[in-house]
Formats: sequence, structure tokens, C-alpha cells
Amino acid sequence: MYRVGIITMSDKGSRGEREDKSAGAIREVIGSQGWKVTSYRIIPDDLDTIQETLISFCDQESLDLVLTTGGTGLGPRDNTPEATLGVIERVVPGIAEVMRMESLQKTSRAMLSRAVAGIRHRTLIINLPGSPKAVKECLEAIMHALPHGLEILTGRGGECAR
Ligand code: MTE
Repeated sequence: MYRVGIITMSDKGSRGEREDKSAGAIREVIGSQGWKVTSYRIIPDDLDTIQETLISFCDQESLDLVLTTGGTGLGPRDNTPEATLGVIERVVPGIAEVMRMESLQKTSRAMLSRAVAGIRHRTLIINLPGSPKAVKECLEAIMHALPHGLEILTGRGGECAR
């Protein structure tokens, strides 16, 4: 079972002015996989706050997977990709490529998400867009390959040649 963290980036949500339905959508998918959400925060779209939270989830809590939602678009406060790139050691480009490729079958607006994915120590961080619909569509696109990636990242086996 993998330990998963969810971080929702939302200025309004962090002030209690908007219900966080996207985290709920992530929980559903993670639960159906048999993995456990052990950490959750909803924070404003500040670059520094996002980086501090990502570092804490990776370095203090040693989570296997951190899923962020929101802040990947073109708005002036959309800082999630830059914050993520600032804390990861290795980029995993294929994850974001597949999310955008599959999402484009659903909406041409998928091209507007600048989401990235990468590794800090033994934690995989993946940015998801902000809406519950986008969260489900993106997770659906990558979920079949994630268990194998986490197996290898966390050193729990994973024979690629199978
Ligand atoms: N991806 C999928 N699969 N489905 C969606 O509905 N919405 C897009 C895009 N990616 C969408 C999607 C839209 S409208 C935007 S603006 C960007 O994600 C960025 O969203 P964010 O700023 O909430 O992260």
C-alpha cells in the first residue's frame, strides 16, 4: 500500500470560500487502488507556500506519491508547475505528456494545463489541473502505469521485463 499526499492549490479554498471537490475526486481514485491518503492540505497559490508544503510532504512525511490539484493554468497566480520544478531532482515528462495527450480527446483546453511531474528523493510528485472532472480524466490516463513506477521508485521490486 502506498502513502499518498494531496495538496489543493486554491486561494479561495484556503480561505474557506470554496468547497474542495477535487481532493474528493483524487481520494476516490486512490481509495479504489487500495492506497492510503495520509496527508492533505489546502493552501493558497503562493509559490513559497507550495514549495514548503511539497518539501514537507517529501522530506518530513516521506510520502510515496504527492498529487497536487490546481494552479497549472495560465493565470498570474498559477504557480504550481514552477513550485514543483523548483523542488524536484528529476523530471518525469511522460506522465504530463500522457495526461495532456489523453485529455485532448476530451477537451482542447487540455493544452492550457502546464502540469509537470517529477521525483524528489523517493517521492513522485504529479500536478493535476484544478477541476474534479480534469482530475478524474488525468488520473484515468496515467493510473495503469503508476503502480509499476512507484514499485521501482520505492525499491519494492518491479521487474520491467515481465
Ligand atoms: N484536462 C482535462 N482532462 N479536463 C479538463 O477539463 N481543463 C483544462 C486543463 N486541463 C481540463 C484539463 C483547463 S480549462 C485549464 S484552464 C487547465 O487545465 C488548467 O487548469 P488549472 O489552472 O485549474 O490547473
